[in-house]
Amino acid sequence: MCGIVAYVGKKEAYPILLKGLYRLEYRGYDSAGMALLDNNLKLYKNRGKVSELELQTQGKDIKGSIGIAHTRWATHGEPNDVNAHPFFSKTHKLAMIHNGIIENYVILKEELIARGYEFSSNTDTEVLVHLIEDIQLKENVALEEAVRIALNQVIGAYAIVIISENHPDMLIAARKSSPLVIGVGEGEYFVASDATPIVEYTKNVVYLNDEEVAVISLSTGLKIRTIKNKEKTPYIEQLEINLSALEKGGFPHFMLKEIYEQPRSIKDTMRGRLNANKEIVSLGGIFDFKKKMINANRFVIVACGTSWHAGLVGEYLIEELARIPVEVEYASEFRYRTPIINENDVVIAISQSGETADTLAAIELAKSKGATIIGICNVVGSSIARATHAGTYTHAGPEIGVASTKAFTSQVAILTLMALSLAQERGTISQSDFFRLIHQLEEIPEKVERTLLLNDKIVEIAKVFKDKANFLYLGRGYNFPVALEGALKLKEISYIHAEGYPAAEMKHGPIALIDEEMPVVIIATNKGTYDKVVSNIQEVKARKGKIIAIVTEGDVTVKNLADYAIEIPETEEMFVPLLATIPLQLLAYHIAVMRGCNVDQPRNLAKSVTVE
Ligand code: G6P
Repeated sequence: MCGIVAYVGKKEAYPILLKGLYRLEYRGYDSAGMALLDNNLKLYKNRGKVSELELQTQGKDIKGSIGIAHTRWATHGEPNDVNAHPFFSKTHKLAMIHNGIIENYVILKEELIARGYEFSSNTDTEVLVHLIEDIQLKENVALEEAVRIALNQVIGAYAIVIISENHPDMLIAARKSSPLVIGVGEGEYFVASDATPIVEYTKNVVYLNDEEVAVISLSTGLKIRTIKNKEKTPYIEQLEINLSALEKGGFPHFMLKEIYEQPRSIKDTMRGRLNANKEIVSLGGIFDFKKKMINANRFVIVACGTSWHAGLVGEYLIEELARIPVEVEYASEFRYRTPIINENDVVIAISQSGETADTLAAIELAKSKGATIIGICNVVGSSIARATHAGTYTHAGPEIGVASTKAFTSQVAILTLMALSLAQERGTISQSDFFRLIHQLEEIPEKVERTLLLNDKIVEIAKVFKDKANFLYLGRGYNFPVALEGALKLKEISYIHAEGYPAAEMKHGPIALIDEEMPVVIIATNKGTYDKVVSNIQEVKARKGKIIAIVTEGDVTVKNLADYAIEIPETEEMFVPLLATIPLQLLAYHIAVMRGCNVDQPRNLAKSVTVE
C-alpha cells in the first residue's frame, strides 16, 4: 500500500531515499515525505507524487546520513500535505512513517487528547507516534521499549520506521501484516517495504516477521526482538533480483515493458518445470505435498483482483484435466463468511505481490481449519509465500506497473503446469493427450511473441474507440476469465467503464446496453462453442454494437462479421488465455495512453494492497 524506505550509514541519505521512493511509488503515490537527521530533525512532505517532493526539497537543507521516507496511498485522512508522512512526535524529537491501519486508533487518540495531545492530521499514524513518545516520557524507558509497549496496545497492521533526534545513528523498525525488509550493507543499513530500493546497494537482506521490532544501529548492529521482548536471531538471505529488472529498458512505461516481457516471463515460469522432450512436468516447490493434493477432496482457490481471474482459469484447467472439484473465492469474501473447510481441502492462494491483506487472512483462516495451503506468488520471500505450507514462485520478475500483466500470464502458466501434473499423477489424462498438451504448452512463449506483433493493428483499433464511455467484454469457457481480465485492465488504467461477462449471459442484462456507441470485445477462439459465440456476435450486430473480435488465425466466419478482428496463433483451447490476454492488455494500454492517463500509476490504485 504505502512505500517505506529508510537509511542509516555514512553516505548522504537524501539521494538514496529519493531514489528508493521512486522505486516504491507503485505502492502508493498520493503524497510523499521524508525526514532527515543531521544536527536536528528536518521534515518535508507534501500531497502529490515523489517528483513534487523532489521539487519541494530543492535548495532546502537535505543534509544527513540517516533518514526515513514514505510514499502514501491514503486510508485514514484524505491525501493532503498534513496527512502525508512522516509525522513528528509532540516534542519533534521523533519522526515516524507507517504502512498499514491502526484499527483502534480512535480509542488511543481519545486517551491522548484527554492527556493534552493535539493532532495536526486525521491519520492513525500520528496517534501511534504520540503514543510511543508518551510512553517513553511517562514510563521513562528507552525508545525501543516504548515502541514495544505501544505496539502491544495496537490492533491492526503496521510497518513502521522511527528516527530519533537523541539517537542519530539508529533506526527502529517494526512490522505486523505489512512487509518490511532490512538491507545489511557495509557499515550501512536500509529498511524498505520491498527489496527494490535496496538491491543496488546490497543483496544481503533480513525479512522482518510479524510482531518483531528491529533496532538498527551503526554502533551496535542489527538486533531483533519480538514485541513481547523475546530475542530473535536475524536471518540474512540473499536477494535474487537484479537492477536492470527494475528499470524501463527503453520502453515509455513499465506496463508496456512488462507486456513485452511475456514471452520470456512465461518461459521463466516454466523453466525447469516443463521438459517436453523428456515429457516431464514437475513443480519442485510442492513436491512434498503432492500426495495431499492428489487425494484432496477439493481445491479452494483464494485471491483478489487479477490473481482471482487467474484462479478462474485454474478452476477450469484443474477440473477438466485432474478432475478435482475447484472453487474460486474472493479472499475478502472467504475470510468473513463461515466457509466449510477441513483438513481434506487444499487451498491455493494466488498473489502476485504476496502481501495482499485479504489473501493473507484467508490463508490464516483456512490454516486454522487444518487445510493444506499452497501458494502461487511472484515476490520471493513475501508474506504469503512464507505463510503457506508450500508453493511455487511464478518467477515473472519484478512487476512495477500497477496493472498486472506478466504476473497474470505466469500465474496461469503455473496453474496449467499444476493441472497437468495432477492429471498425470491421478491418471485422469491419457499419455497421448498429456504429451500433446505439453508439446503445445512449450510453444506458447513463441506464440506470445507472435501475438505481440499485432501491436500496430491494436493501436489503430485503440484510436477508433478511445473516446467511448463503456466497453463490454465477452467470452465463454476458458475465455470468460479472459473477458473479465480484459475489462479490468481497461477500467484500471483508462477509467473507461468496462464489464466482463460470460458471452451467453449477455442476454440476461447487458444486451440492454448495446447500441451503436457500445464496443463489444469478444474472444471468439472457442472450438466447442464456436457457433454459440457466432450467435452472440449476431445478437450484438443486430443492435448496432461494434465488434472487436479475438479470433484464431485463419478464422473466416467471425472475421467477416466483426468490425475489427485480431488474429492470434492457434493453440489448445485451454491455453488460449495465455495468448488472448495479450491483445487485451495492449488495447487497454494504448487507449489509456491516448487518453493521457498515467498507465503505470493509475489513480486510486496500488500494486500491493496490504490493507483490507
Ligand atoms: C491490487 C492490484 C492488482 C492485483 C490485486 C491483487 O488491486 O492493483 O493488480 O491483481 O491487488 O494483488 P495480488 O498481489 O494479491 O495479486
